[in-house]
Amino acid sequence: MANRSHEPLGQALRHGLEPLVYWANNPATVLGAALTTASAFTMIYSWLLWPHAGPYAGIALWLVLPAFFVGGLILIPAGMWRKRVMAYRGGLVPTKYPPLDLNLPLYRRPLAIVVVLTCVNIAIFTTSTYRGVTYMDSVQFCGLTCHKVMAPEYAAYQNSPHSRVACASCHIGPGASWFVRSKLSGTKQVFAATLNTYPRPIPTPVENLRPARETCEECHWPAKFTANRLLVRDHFADDEKNTATRTVLLLHVGGEDVLSGKAMGIHGVHMAQGTVIEYLPADRQRQNIPLVVLRRKGGEPETFQQEDARLTPEQQRAPRRTMDCMDCHNRPTHAFELPEEAVDRMLAAGRISPALPFAKKKGVELLKAVYGSQQEAGEKIPAAFRDYYRTTYPQAAAERAQDIDNGAQALVAIYNRNVFPQMNVAWGTYPRNIGHMNWPGCFRCHDGSHKSAKGSIINNDCGACHNLLAMDEAAPKILQDLGLTGQPQASSR
Ligand code: HEC
Ligand code: HEC
Ligand code: HEC
Ligand code: HEC
Ligand code: HEC
Repeated sequence: MANRSHEPLGQALRHGLEPLVYWANNPATVLGAALTTASAFTMIYSWLLWPHAGPYAGIALWLVLPAFFVGGLILIPAGMWRKRVMAYRGGLVPTKYPPLDLNLPLYRRPLAIVVVLTCVNIAIFTTSTYRGVTYMDSVQFCGLTCHKVMAPEYAAYQNSPHSRVACASCHIGPGASWFVRSKLSGTKQVFAATLNTYPRPIPTPVENLRPARETCEECHWPAKFTANRLLVRDHFADDEKNTATRTVLLLHVGGEDVLSGKAMGIHGVHMAQGTVIEYLPADRQRQNIPLVVLRRKGGEPETFQQEDARLTPEQQRAPRRTMDCMDCHNRPTHAFELPEEAVDRMLAAGRISPALPFAKKKGVELLKAVYGSQQEAGEKIPAAFRDYYRTTYPQAAAERAQDIDNGAQALVAIYNRNVFPQMNVAWGTYPRNIGHMNWPGCFRCHDGSHKSAKGSIINNDCGACHNLLAMDEAAPKILQDLGLTGQPQASSR
């Protein structure tokens, strides 16, 4: 046996494999080896040639194949072990082994083969785990795999300032512990989606969302924005001419000045370092806030209570929420619009022509009607819009056929981005907390009735948050002074 160390390679390999092949020769091990090898080759092939598979192929490639791969790896030794146990029972295995001597090729070779194969397997396994994890964090997986469930959020997201920010950047954020938590709750969600037991619409606020300061501040932090912001909103009236007006605000957005550290404006006052605002929501949606506690660095806590609010002892003891970015920016990316503002936006952009009589009024009316599905809305809205002009304004219908077609398409686009009958997401399902026009928003606390024991009131002056430079004016002088009278300034939402 000793002179075998000089034998030709093929023969050496054969001798090395002998004991392995002997124990491996059982159905479980053979099945395991076949599974592992087949899935390994398929995975490597797909990594090289198909890196951007679609959502369902992605599940197969990055979640199911690795499971087969690992399952096969477990079957291989399990089968060998079982065969050995049987052999042992049948008295076919020596009760006493010869001493283990790595100088003997008989031991060395199988060991080398096992070591090499293990390294290859570890490499494949880590690559596939990494791929699987990256895949599960991808926008595609989050937004498209459970297509129906996430359709409203995905549609709004694609049209938002964050459409290049991955879902996971806000929903999971950096660090291992939130990753694990999100995967645990994610597993539950996958079951809910598969068994069709998920709630429609998905209820908000999202419970246990990671504190926004840990996610949003990866990209935005209060020292980064300090200035005022000029907000120009175009509005169109319900009249035949769709009379256009503009509202101009100078919003005191504020922040924390980088050099001086001075806290300014809306961000500074709520988010400055050392300031903590806690509040007690009286409803699930946090739209009703009877009690607010303000702590400033080095100061005594100050409690503001809504005048007519009577808190039950249970409410008094309920956990309070610490205000963060989310309490104002609850729709930073899933920003659903209301029909009036959406039609205003399309009119301002010219996608619905303001020259079409009553386009605003009719458009809003058609959008607000109830349809059973997006498909139904996609057929009925354009038909009704065309009918309206054909019967009421035959001349406009003849001269402006193209405008009417474009307008009808724009209305369908608005509907498809904001209303999802299959998820029970209708107009206004999700409140937006910025501002105060359509939802209580800032006025949940700034309604002038939140008083502290000392008698101070959470500020309600129009000038505290913005200078109202023009309100629904045809040609605001301020914009002429600033030389901003050209194109409508569509602001993002
Ligand atoms: C800029 C940050 C951000 C990004 C990017 C983002 N989300 Fe969200 N998402 C939020 C916040 C904040 C909420 C919580 C809203 C609430 O609680 O009222 C939320 C809520 C949700 C909800 C609950 C329903 C709802 O409309 O509030 C779903 C579902 C959701 N997101 C899915 C996604 C998907 C899918 C993606 C990627 C396509 C994504 N999100 C990307 C910030 C983000
Ligand atoms: C991975 C980076 C990233 C994360 C995380 C992120 N954002 Fe953003 N955010 C952006 C980018 C990029 C823009 C677009 C900047 C622009 O248009 O000037 C943006 C724009 C915004 C805007 C301005 C929109 C407008 O009207 O101009 C707001 C408000 C905002 N983000 C809030 C948030 C909030 C709240 C969170 C946390 C829930 C968050 N962002 C998380 C990158 C991020
Ligand atoms: C008290 C409410 C409130 C809180 C809390 C708040 N914001 Fe804002 N934020 C606003 C308002 C109001 C605006 C201006 C919105 C607009 O343009 O319509 C704004 C604007 C922004 C913008 C756009 C800035 C610009 O100059 O265009 C970003 C980015 C932003 N906020 C991020 C954050 C982040 C990150 C946090 C958490 C650290 C946060 N905000 C907390 C109210 C708030
Ligand atoms: C959860 C309650 C709460 C909400 C919601 C809230 N604020 Fe405040 N805000 C406060 C408190 C508390 C103070 C500090 C009052 C004080 O110092 O006496 C404050 C102060 C301010 C101030 C400074 C006022 C002054 O006296 O100079 C501004 C500006 C402001 N908030 C803007 C906003 C805007 C804009 C929103 C909505 C986007 C908003 N707030 C939403 C609780 C809230
Ligand atoms: C606590 C802060 C705060 C106070 C107080 C406040 N506003 Fe506002 N207001 C805002 C914010 C924030 C927005 C911008 C909302 C947005 O981005 O859609 C806004 C927007 C507006 C708009 C523009 C709406 C649009 O889309 O055209 C008008 C008009 C307005 N406010 C009027 C007033 C008047 C009048 C008062 C006094 C009674 C007042 N506001 C008090 C925070 C405030």
